[in-house]
Amino acid sequence: MKRFLGSNRLRTAIFISGTGSNFKNLVRFSLSKNAPIKINLVISNNSKAKGLVFAKQKKIKNKIYRFKNVNKDEKNILNILKKNNIKLICLAGFMKILSKNFIKKFQGKILNVHPSLLPKYKGLNTHKRVLSNNDKFSGCTIHFVNSKLDSGEIILQKKVKVKKNDTPKTLSKRILKQEHILYPKAIKKILVNL
Ligand code: GAR
Repeated sequence: MKRFLGSNRLRTAIFISGTGSNFKNLVRFSLSKNAPIKINLVISNNSKAKGLVFAKQKKIKNKIYRFKNVNKDEKNILNILKKNNIKLICLAGFMKILSKNFIKKFQGKILNVHPSLLPKYKGLNTHKRVLSNNDKFSGCTIHFVNSKLDSGEIILQKKVKVKKNDTPKTLSKRILKQEHILYPKAIKKILVNL
């Protein structure tokens, strides 16, 4: 993947909606030795997102856009991304769908984590659907974002075995652990010249 080669410590924005465990994990990763990214900005559509508390503790610039007026908010987000010279966007549990226009402006520079083995189970309630279909495996995917929901080029996936007594909660917990390993790996894969 050559698109980011040569860029040192890429200025990165993380988009969140809730708990932000992937966000926290990416901050930890960004502070590790030889990390290829620096996290300069957090965007949330939800003022109550727990991840914002962590952003404040770590003194990472953070902004809330509720996405009630999508056009207006996306325009403002594009402005703030530009102002902060952001080169990479990592969606981390961000539950809003970005417009085609927005994605076009950051083509090939937006990553997402999805809690299923894409192309299976795009969209919401993945764990519930996996369990009701009695699938033996689920997992998680890190992919580039394109204009179709959860359909961009896959960077890395990790399979997770579904257990007999799994509930959406227990399965999501095990998959989330793997997301935390996979996201940094995927970032390294696309950014580090191996
Ligand atoms: C993660 O499991 C992520 O894969 C999922 O939301 C959770 C967020 O957790 N994302 C999606 O479902 C996107 N469609 P976190 O806030 O603790 O990182």
